Amino acid sequence: MLLEIKKLHMKYRKAKAPTLEDLNFGIGEGEFVVILGLSGAGKSTLIRCLNLLIQPTGGEIYWRGRVVNQWRGKALKNYRRSIGMIFQSFNLIGRLSALTNVLVGRLGFMPAWRAFFRMYEASDVKLANEALHRVGLTHVMHQRADQLSGGQRQRVAIARALVQKPMLILADEPVASLDPLTSRSVMDLLKSINKEEQITMVINLHDVELAKQYATRIIGISRGKIVFDGHPQDVDNAVLERIYS
Ligand SMILES: Nc1ncnc2c1ncn2[C@@H]1O[C@H](COP(=O)(O)OP(=O)(O)OP(=O)(O)O)[C@@H](O)[C@H]1O
Ligand SMILES: [Mg+2]
Repeated sequence: MLLEIKKLHMKYRKAKAPTLEDLNFGIGEGEFVVILGLSGAGKSTLIRCLNLLIQPTGGEIYWRGRVVNQWRGKALKNYRRSIGMIFQSFNLIGRLSALTNVLVGRLGFMPAWRAFFRMYEASDVKLANEALHRVGLTHVMHQRADQLSGGQRQRVAIARALVQKPMLILADEPVASLDPLTSRSVMDLLKSINKEEQITMVINLHDVELAKQYATRIIGISRGKIVFDGHPQDVDNAVLERIYS
């Protein structure tokens, strides 16, 4: 198992009720998992718990068999850099070039002083070039990120994740800001990276049709609890009602 959670529980400090309650699942290498759920169901909270951006208030997270909850310092840094993150809003630095944004993915591999001065090695620049080629953006690598289209920006963000050489990519609604055609092309790219680079994917989506088309497994969350975990073909109207009612 690549990643496993047991009795995962998350209650925000000022909230009355927990946001996530008793979540249990394991994710194997190579899976393409889509998480579905209504707005407020807890999808983003789950993603943030998984890479310890927030500390869960209960339960355990296992990474390749080892509990990560208490990891700090170097262990936490190593854990985070083996997980690529992709967001709805791309999280690029607009005034910097596509290439420079991709290089940001290498910061976690550099000694602090080199990272501070952004002194990238030639090998980092080579990796960034390769990643931009992989996502089809070689021709705009020197363009400012804020001059790129939404689809191109998300491809830059994917390239930034790729230079981490991650084992897992967590994506929080990666196509929610894109038009339907661009959404599909970005999902196609994630799928091909999943297959060819063998990077496991866990992706929050709003769109049921996209989920069914791309996922090898769907996890449905309603009010912080898992109400479905299975094959996309088994997501019928009854299941959708459980997830979305
Ligand atoms: N920092 C926070 N402090 C307190 N409560 C929070 C915080 N972040 C999220 N919540 C609450 O946790 C619940 C789940 O939020 P979350 O953002 O995880 O849902 P989501 O499924 O990602 O929704 P969406 O589809 O709208 O992105 C909501 O009720 C939200 O108000
Ligand atoms: Mg969310």
